[in-house]
Amino acid sequence: MADLSVDICGLSLKNPTMLASGVLDETGKTMASIARAGAGAVVTKSIGREPRQGHGSPCIVELGDSLVNAMGLPNPGIDVFGRELEEAKKAGVPIIGSVFGGGEAEIAEMARLMADAGADAIELNLSCPHAKGFGAEVGSTPERVESICRAARSGLDIPMFAKLTPNTSSIVDLAKAAERGGADAIVAINTLKGMVISPEARMPVLANRFGGLSGPSIRPIGVRCVYEIRGAVKIPIIGVGGIESGNDALEYIMAGASSVQIGTAVWKHGPEVFSKVCEDISEFMNRNGFDRIFEMVGVAHEVKH
Ligand code: FUM
Repeated sequence: MADLSVDICGLSLKNPTMLASGVLDETGKTMASIARAGAGAVVTKSIGREPRQGHGSPCIVELGDSLVNAMGLPNPGIDVFGRELEEAKKAGVPIIGSVFGGGEAEIAEMARLMADAGADAIELNLSCPHAKGFGAEVGSTPERVESICRAARSGLDIPMFAKLTPNTSSIVDLAKAAERGGADAIVAINTLKGMVISPEARMPVLANRFGGLSGPSIRPIGVRCVYEIRGAVKIPIIGVGGIESGNDALEYIMAGASSVQIGTAVWKHGPEVFSKVCEDISEFMNRNGFDRIFEMVGVAHEVKH
């Protein structure tokens, strides 16, 4: 096996894969099982101040390999979730606490509470496309992204990542704003806002009508976003969207990502996807003479047609 270890903002990961927020990450036990399956780090479910039910059913539609979800940020609230975090940390990989809130003050408070609960880093969810008053509704303009990041950064002494929405005319402007506001890394991308209609029922399938598309179909958009962001910011980028294989992860890495997150493929292939992706990357590195992951980060910018 090649040396797949990476350093992301001072966090040491044994390999560049992380569990993306939203899949098998609401309990300590499932997060620990993902770590044991080979993930280099785990991002928690997005957590808010109070318990929240989320949207009613149906809240997920399967479209082949892809999903449209409108979970609506269901979570037990930070007080209860703190205990799950303690359990997850026993697995020995960095745990990144994903938080959401309705504005600068609430998001900053959530970041501090998540840090107090023991997270190794914070991921600000500025991008969920289907929860009223949260996510993309507060993270779609550079001004808000900058001011939210600035508020959350002050008083926080662990790394802070900003997860950005692709549902915008310029994710690059959002990334630059996050960097100005003090984010230590950019996470790109969250799901694409979409909907599915049942002609038989003559109505939207999701109870919330709108949801977020994830899976292989969004990978070219994610890779494009990472490529563009890489040319505009100096902080590391964590790529996410449609990764199922080592080749998919390498696309993101060569576009400029220092590590990657995997979500929908865990639902489809199970936790084994992490070791499979790592084996693929290792095999590619051995075959192509790369010793470390960082040697491949952004190389697609150097080679022109
Ligand atoms: O409902 C959810 O937890 C989804 C979050 C997201 O799309 O960011």
